[in-house]
Amino acid sequence: MTEHPGGSRNTERSGRRELPDTADTEALGRELAADLRAGDLVILDGPLGAGKTALTRGIGAGLGVTGRVSSPTFIIARQHAPGGDGRPGLIHVDAYRLADANGAATLDDLDALDLDTDLADSVVVVEWGEGVAERLTDRHLLVRLRRDDESDTRHAVWEWVST
Ligand SMILES: Nc1ncnc2c1ncn2[C@@H]1O[C@H](COP(=O)(O)OP(=O)(O)OP(=O)(O)O)[C@@H](O)[C@H]1O
Ligand SMILES: [Mg+2]
Repeated sequence: MTEHPGGSRNTERSGRRELPDTADTEALGRELAADLRAGDLVILDGPLGAGKTALTRGIGAGLGVTGRVSSPTFIIARQHAPGGDGRPGLIHVDAYRLADANGAATLDDLDALDLDTDLADSVVVVEWGEGVAERLTDRHLLVRLRRDDESDTRHAVWEWVST
């Protein structure tokens, strides 16, 4: 892995990874977290049960935030405090319920979370965030979690996207 002098990073990074087991999904999250800084946005795309929360758990572990990352079932967003001075916190959002009956996302609901106040201090991870959360930043890490049709094995593809 290349170190980037002066703390800059290569935001063009993208990739693909086979994920045979939950532990592989979490491990990918830990790896992706190494490139994440306060203010960054991660959008997770994938069907029900794809592993979005498992990936977020890995990101949380990689960032070293406090508290167990679990599915925000009854709330829309859960905040995890930084694990130390100068480190980012984690805001874990489940935008599933923000979609209306037609599947169209409502941006107003994200405003109600007052996320902007903490964006600069935290990494924000949004499950079901595609089409909902992009406007929060001018670029984001998009991770798509999928199952291979043939093998039923899961994989992830990811890329930094400018908006
Ligand atoms: N790579 C993987 N291989 C096999 N099982 C996995 C993998 N990743 C996650 N799982 C399992 O799939 C189940 C669902 O995972 P998870 O809750 O992370 O999905 P999700 O995308 O967040 O679901 P939801 O759409 O309900 O939010 C869990 O039991 C988890 O352990
Ligand atoms: Mg989930």
